Amino acid sequence: MIGKLNHVAIVVPDLQAAAALYRDTLGATVSEPEPLEAHGVTTVFVDLDNTRIELLHPLGKDSPIGRFLERHPDGGMHHVCYEVDDILDARDQLKARGARVLGDGEPRIGAHGKPVLFLHPKDFCGTLVELEQV
Ligand code: CO
Repeated sequence: MIGKLNHVAIVVPDLQAAAALYRDTLGATVSEPEPLEAHGVTTVFVDLDNTRIELLHPLGKDSPIGRFLERHPDGGMHHVCYEVDDILDARDQLKARGARVLGDGEPRIGAHGKPVLFLHPKDFCGTLVELEQV
């Protein structure tokens, strides 16, 4: 069902420092910071040959990743995102297999303008899983 790894998201306490780390120390191609008000995050994308790393920093008071950063002040891996061809079909198959979909179970438009869903980390080895229809 799942296809390619679309991205790995890492929450960082300092977006400028994290962007510089990936650009200057690791020698990767790094985007400009992009504020996404609707998602309560600012993102920087690191483009790799086979996938992307999404650096996330809270934007605003009610950011969903604000609490993550309180628990993990150094930052840390937040989720992995797998591509699916048909997100509703994937959702229905996963629910039938006992996986829990977060929120109301309806896809919403994610950070890349595509429909996304999140799966409960307790059902996936302690890892928050994002599905993105591509
Ligand atoms: Co993501």
